[in-house]
Amino acid sequence: MRVIYTIAELRESLRGITGIALVPTMGNLHQGHLDLVQIARQQGQFVVVSIFVNPLQFGVNEDYSTYPRALEQDCKMLEQCGVDVVFAPNECELYPQPQQVAVELPPIANELCGASRPGHFRGAATVVLKLFNIVQPHIAVFGKKDYQQLYLMRLMTAQLNLPVEINGGDTVRASDGLALSSRNQYLNVAERTEATFLYQTLVGIRLAIIDGATDYLTLEQQAIDVLTARGWQVDYVAIRAQANLAEPIACECKLVILAAAWQGKTRLIDNLEVFKDR
Ligand code: PAJ
Repeated sequence: MRVIYTIAELRESLRGITGIALVPTMGNLHQGHLDLVQIARQQGQFVVVSIFVNPLQFGVNEDYSTYPRALEQDCKMLEQCGVDVVFAPNECELYPQPQQVAVELPPIANELCGASRPGHFRGAATVVLKLFNIVQPHIAVFGKKDYQQLYLMRLMTAQLNLPVEINGGDTVRASDGLALSSRNQYLNVAERTEATFLYQTLVGIRLAIIDGATDYLTLEQQAIDVLTARGWQVDYVAIRAQANLAEPIACECKLVILAAAWQGKTRLIDNLEVFKDR
């Protein structure tokens, strides 16, 4: 496995290689990331993992400076997973000048996570487009954990005719259901115990929908009320259509329940797909 820091060296080392699978990450890797690497490898591809904490997708009051960085440990894990190249540029390498050109996304990017994180998906899409242009992968793998991000990456790829196939990997969870996240390490013991309740809330909503509940606004509000009563600060709980993340029409049977809420100073997100019988 080679660890490469510059665009020039990366381009040189990928020259002539076809069938590249890219897994973009911000590092501090956990099993969720490694599952995506596994998916990339199963495609029989040459696997590139990028590690870059992208300032463009962090808001001014967000955790860019404190976001956990663990390059050495990440590389050890990736080497064991059979990754071919780790691309770990620094900020000057990807943004030698202030980035003035960006990907413009549709209004759905300003809803859900985009409502409380203005510009977040614009920044994420812009860095992913840059990475696609630098690495020129045939396949890229993203996690369903960041469902809205995966949706927007698919949309960008389709509408900008990028020659990249987007794969989505299932969310990897701890044994109590909490979705693995690089940010979980911010949680103290009490917060970590409570954190699983976000997932349980989604499971409860899914059961209610499967049992026939159709008043989605009420389900959302009840979940917000319960979470709030338990001390969470809720950004949103939303039941949306999988296909476009819009509010579902009555007969929509492929749904996804998405939520973001704060446990202390840590913002957690999660989601759960629901397939309703007609
Ligand atoms: P990061 O948060 O490091 O996540 C990298 C990839 O891992 C994303 O596709 C994310 O959805 C996936 N992932 C995270 N936790 C997961 C879990 N528990 N199960 C499955 N997949 C999981 O997402 C980003 O970085 C950035 O926005 C990025 C796309 C790299 C652009 O900067």
